[in-house]
Amino acid sequence: MNGDGYRVGVVGATGLVGSTILEVLLERGFPVAELVPFASERSAGRQIEWNGATPECRVLSEDAIQGLDLVLSSAGGSVSAEWAPRLVEAGAVVVDNTSHFRMDDGVPLVVAGVNSDAVEGHSGIVANPNCSTMQMVLALKPLQDAGMGIERLVISTYQAVSGTGKGAIDELIAQTQAVLADQDPVASTYPHQIAFNALPQAGSFPDGDDHTDEERKLINETRKILGDEGIRVSATCVRVPVVTGHSESVNVETREPLSPDRARELLASTPGVTVVDEPAAGRYPMAIEAAGRDDVLVGRIRRDPGNESALDLWVVSDNLRKGAATNAVQVAELLIERNLLGSGR
Ligand SMILES: NC(=O)c1ccc[n+]([C@@H]2O[C@H](COP(=O)([O-])OP(=O)(O)OC[C@H]3O[C@@H](n4cnc5c(N)ncnc54)[C@H](OP(=O)(O)O)[C@@H]3O)[C@@H](O)[C@H]2O)c1
Repeated sequence: MNGDGYRVGVVGATGLVGSTILEVLLERGFPVAELVPFASERSAGRQIEWNGATPECRVLSEDAIQGLDLVLSSAGGSVSAEWAPRLVEAGAVVVDNTSHFRMDDGVPLVVAGVNSDAVEGHSGIVANPNCSTMQMVLALKPLQDAGMGIERLVISTYQAVSGTGKGAIDELIAQTQAVLADQDPVASTYPHQIAFNALPQAGSFPDGDDHTDEERKLINETRKILGDEGIRVSATCVRVPVVTGHSESVNVETREPLSPDRARELLASTPGVTVVDEPAAGRYPMAIEAAGRDDVLVGRIRRDPGNESALDLWVVSDNLRKGAATNAVQVAELLIERNLLGSGR
């Protein structure tokens, strides 16, 4: 760090998450002395406009990674697997958006406002959770605390294509245009056409598993962040033809029953959560309203008619912001607040 701030690397700076990180760093006035964007060889030398400057994208190399205080990384799991340890070795703290390190014992998995203290235990890498998990745990934490713990969750997600990267948005638009023009849509990102469809497969099926890796992330990461391996979780992740904003139906059974009114009150006073819950007037959380916002919208809060200890919720958030970029920058802010960056590491 120098007097003006930190030397910050953004790996995947040309991608959906990386470019949102660049916006969020500016919006939140993050103390950046120098921004160093990294991307693949395809983008080497491409200029990124940021805060009145135009730094050029670099390719990751031993030379290029020297002298960074902080790296926000979102270039895929294999890039993080190879480069995060090398970045740490070179002196940086890495906030990693990929799933690669999330379940490692020595790596904190942090949602700012939910388990912020976990950041204290980092050894160079802090993992940013999966987007579907992130928005859900923000809504669950106050219910977990007031309801003396969570027994069980039954989750169905309706996930936007931007969760799969910029190529998936292009594919949704191209397929939509093809169908409207009475042509055959081409599917390459997903196993089937996504336009005018709903796919009961987000992610892929690891060998021998009847759940997708996305569903496993939701199950395992939720338990790690909420600090309770005993929570029973059933998850079905569905990809829908929405550009931005993941929606989730969440049935939450708490140890002590909570009334819908109490849950509304608790959620309304939770920073980062906005209750939108006047269903008869047509007001409930929707992806098109969550897109571009940092808060997690919660509505349709009601008692499960089949279980007096359970509530049903509808949880919606911008997967690129709180689900990825905003939380990554908030984690970086926590690192500064707690003197865990640069010389405090
Ligand atoms: N999208 C979401 O909602 C979301 C949420 C949470 C986490 N994530 C995770 O974040 C990561 C990126 O997601 P995304 O949606 O931003 O994908 P994306 O739009 O496809 O962007 C990928 C980025 O990675 C860069 N990249 C690829 N190979 C590289 C390499 N060898 N070295 C350096 N940079 C490289 C790309 O550079 P080029 O432009 O040069 O190809 C691009 O900047 C994934 O691991 C994803 O799981 C995504």
